[in-house]
Amino acid sequence: MATGTFAHLPPDIQQIAHLDADARIAHIRAERWIQHAAAERLLGYLQEACDQPPRERMENLLLLGESGMGKTMLIRKFERQNAVRFDEVAGVQRRPVVVMLMAPQPTEAEFFNRVLEALDAPSAGYWAGGGQLRTSAIRLLREVGARVLVIDEINSVLAGTPRQQRLFLQLLRFLSNNLRLALVGAGVPEARHALLSDAQLRSRFTDIELPAWTPGEDLRDFVTRLVWSLPLRQPSPVDSAKLRAMLATRSGGVTLGICKAVERAAVAAIRNGRERIELASFEDPEIWRGVAAPGRATRARRPPEGSRA
Ligand SMILES: Nc1ncnc2c1ncn2[C@@H]1O[C@H](COP(=O)(O)OP(=O)(O)OP(=O)(O)O)[C@@H](O)[C@H]1O
Ligand SMILES: [Mg+2]
Repeated sequence: MATGTFAHLPPDIQQIAHLDADARIAHIRAERWIQHAAAERLLGYLQEACDQPPRERMENLLLLGESGMGKTMLIRKFERQNAVRFDEVAGVQRRPVVVMLMAPQPTEAEFFNRVLEALDAPSAGYWAGGGQLRTSAIRLLREVGARVLVIDEINSVLAGTPRQQRLFLQLLRFLSNNLRLALVGAGVPEARHALLSDAQLRSRFTDIELPAWTPGEDLRDFVTRLVWSLPLRQPSPVDSAKLRAMLATRSGGVTLGICKAVERAAVAAIRNGRERIELASFEDPEIWRGVAAPGRATRARRPPEGSRA
């Protein structure tokens, strides 16, 4: 039975709090964007990159963060913020921000195929030859009025042979010099080294980072907003330093782990009727199943260089 106004929740979530358990659990499991301090700051930088006037030397960005920190979510948010409606007069769909996913193999053909894919254009077999692929992709980027090309999973460059890597850096340099649009690469921190081994690229890219969570004000704010997004019928006492320390440690500071644990705690709270999340909710090992997988946690907590044997 759902009575009351659920004044502890924002209005849109109050309405969902009236729904039955299954509907509320579905809401908890669905993807949602939570604005947090670091994300807000980085969105500002991305917007600046987008708003710079087209010129020979564009300011490019490299968005770095461990796997699961929220790079792809952030980029999609940036894309949504800049979406424009269909231009009836010109008869084209304007796309100021184009987001592409880097292919597992860093070759020119694969790269431009992915650009075309991002633009919803026919790809692969449709365009004959590598040169034509490049010309078509660049022409389409101009037609949609792209101001930023976001290359997600740019760390795929690391999977290439040294020769492929060299050619790919050349390609990036070419794009950066000739396209008059800003490039944003997103990837894990390891990508930085590979990309910025090229002096000319290094001077054209600025690093921005989604840092791992530590127990502090930013995490406090994030947890508060995260819990606000959950249709639980009782207020959750989550403003506790102990709880923040636990979330930061057990997730390895990774957003994905924090979200997963909090969401599971919320589902459990609906199923067991307690209707709120508290410190004790996180004592159940089930909440942490699969969170902070070794690769992730050990990378995040790796000792500094030199301290290794
Ligand atoms: N701002 C956010 N709001 C809500 N959930 C988020 C946010 N950022 C990250 N998450 C959660 O973390 C998960 C991982 O985010 P995302 O896929 O963007 O990470 P990533 O940094 O791109 O990782 P990878 O390097 O593995 O691609 C999301 O599925 C979501 O559950
Ligand atoms: Mg990603």
